[in-house]
Amino acid sequence: MKNKIILLFVLVTFLGKADEGMWMPQLIEALNIKDMKKNGFKLTAEQIYSINKASMKDAVAIFGGGCTAEVISTKGLILTNHHCGFSAIAGLSTVQNDHLKNGYWAMKPSEELNCPGLTVTFIKKIEDVTVKVMESIKSTFSEIQKDSAIKATIKSLETLAKKDNHYEAFIRPFYYGNEYYLFVTETFKDIRLVGAPPESIGKFGGETDNWVWPRHNADFSMFRIYASKENKPADFNAENIPYKPIHSFPISLKGAEKGDFTMVYGFPGRTQEYLTSYAVDLLIKQQDPLRVNLRGKRLAIMDEDMKKNDTLRLMYTAKYAGVANAYKKWSGEMAGLIKSNAVEKKKKQEDEFLALVSSDPVKKELYKNLFNEFKRTYQEYAPLSKQYDYFTECLWGVDAFRLSASFMPVFAELKKKQLGKENKFETLLKDTKPVLPFKNFNKETDRKLCKAMLEAYVAATDREFMPRYLDSLLTAHNGNVNALTDFLYNNSSFIDNEKAKLMFSDFEKSASLYERDPMYLVASSIYLHYQKTVIPQIGYFDRQINDLQKVYMKGLKENVKDKKFYPDANGTLRVSFGKVADYQPKDGVLNLHYTTIDGMVEKNKTGLEDFYVKPRLLELFEKKDFGPYVDKNGKLRIAFTGSNHTTGGNSGSPVINAKGELIGTNFDRNWEGTMSDVMYNGDFCRNIVLDVRFTLWMIDKYAGAGYLLNEMKLVK
Ligand code: ARG
Ligand code: GLU
Repeated sequence: MKNKIILLFVLVTFLGKADEGMWMPQLIEALNIKDMKKNGFKLTAEQIYSINKASMKDAVAIFGGGCTAEVISTKGLILTNHHCGFSAIAGLSTVQNDHLKNGYWAMKPSEELNCPGLTVTFIKKIEDVTVKVMESIKSTFSEIQKDSAIKATIKSLETLAKKDNHYEAFIRPFYYGNEYYLFVTETFKDIRLVGAPPESIGKFGGETDNWVWPRHNADFSMFRIYASKENKPADFNAENIPYKPIHSFPISLKGAEKGDFTMVYGFPGRTQEYLTSYAVDLLIKQQDPLRVNLRGKRLAIMDEDMKKNDTLRLMYTAKYAGVANAYKKWSGEMAGLIKSNAVEKKKKQEDEFLALVSSDPVKKELYKNLFNEFKRTYQEYAPLSKQYDYFTECLWGVDAFRLSASFMPVFAELKKKQLGKENKFETLLKDTKPVLPFKNFNKETDRKLCKAMLEAYVAATDREFMPRYLDSLLTAHNGNVNALTDFLYNNSSFIDNEKAKLMFSDFEKSASLYERDPMYLVASSIYLHYQKTVIPQIGYFDRQINDLQKVYMKGLKENVKDKKFYPDANGTLRVSFGKVADYQPKDGVLNLHYTTIDGMVEKNKTGLEDFYVKPRLLELFEKKDFGPYVDKNGKLRIAFTGSNHTTGGNSGSPVINAKGELIGTNFDRNWEGTMSDVMYNGDFCRNIVLDVRFTLWMIDKYAGAGYLLNEMKLVK
């Protein structure tokens, strides 16, 4: 009887989270298809993922470094977010031809612009290789021997998968190393920009609206994959032809209503859903507040300078956006976890897990110390994590330090080889890839950042734990951080444009001089200090924590029988299913599940810079020329919210209806729900989706590139 009651408790705390999960597509048939059908899905699991037949997976790709894109025509047209295409569009822009600012639309194939370095990767096959990987481990092996055996097996399996074909392959651990999966991939390298709205529309709302609902930005851009005549990946070549995909998404013009089935298919980057109460406690009491505080200081300084003039504004916008994005997310995550009593909830799950296994003496013994071990490990880890955060978020947030330290490999190489006619400094720079300090860097802004960051660092760090050279400089300046900073910025060649020009024209001869540059000395001393003392220890604890999580994860999967456990996101292909849903951000307030162009115009009327749009959009709005893209209620919708469990990396992911048709492009989450990386809550965690009808309206009515719609399959 007692066990039954306990089991019921476990059901309550581990279950009851409808729509949670990022599922592996190849396991949908076994794990999810019944639930999906219950929620309205009309197709089969094989139509989502199949190795032999064309399926949706063939139309979902990794876009660039960390986004998702979907194929929407038989001629290799792909759709992703504006913020995902941002650097490609920026790279093609010049002051005279600013495609970011003005938007860009190819009106014929020859106007599609090559984006050097941009890649698009499809998944050809996913295979469970757990048994093969585990077979390489002998019970007599030490932990280190186990590690190297696993590494070697992974490497040989990857090599085998790539043999005699043009594919790439990688293996990733799942469930903290309880399982391993092999991914065979195909990467296309000739990717061309087809079109993008002006930044004022693609990033409408800017930082003000980022992570916020209600949302009104048309966060999309379009590219095309080009392939060789054999339809294979090829480097850029004018002779290449549009890629003929195995599958492309039909596009629904019918929109989606509250309660309708939605599925997000993409590449979520990282979640930590199975952390213990000790980890969550550290996150909300130390890690998130510290990171948010340090980023807040940096943002305030950048903001102040960006307001001064356009040059500074342009120089720092991208950097500002990057810093602000995580800043806002972490603050939302922290608030959400605190409000939801996440630590108590996790603690309760841990108690219930122990109660569940306690009926079996063997299991009881096995897990009896698990949570004490977690507790002890996190206690030891906490001060190190703090030091590490001061490195990444504070000292390395100062451009001068990061940029100067990137010259360390240059000096190391210089020592090894004699530079001469065939060994040019330029070649060395190319090989060692230091970050040249001239781009998007303002000495005076950085000087302010340095003062603020050093002040925070010195206040929080005992002198004995500081990098040697920094410590000696502090002594030399009587502990005065401002004087120390001025000394660095007034005497360094690395961060002074004029001096740096000189330095590069004559680097080889005077290398020994530059190696004694105070900025370089302090930066390399900081870097080496962390590389030698903090990072190895962080590595040690990461390993300890992973091993404990592996035991806990295995325990959960084996003992909590009524629950299906999805693996944490790790940048691999996943399916999240849920429905179109509104939510209550707070008591007494209901946030509607969709927005319309009316709201965009309303925001524009505030006159705030983040809500500026080009007059053309306002004219079209006045004419109410919404074409077939209008909703039944006469409004033109822009975005909608769903209960799909998503995270960073899901940007650009296709949002699909019950019939496998595209209804939107995923681009964000609501601020209240950003805690879903650690703990999903179906009541208020929402993904934010650009309604595909607005995308089509922009292409057709705004850009006048309606010819592109001819190659799409529109479902009316
Ligand atoms: N929050 C979204 C994501 O995590 C969008 C970021 C880009 N947009 C911006 N306004 N910074 O990537
Ligand atoms: N904007 C995010 C991305 O670039 C998606 C939002 C999220 O974190 O869910 O992937």
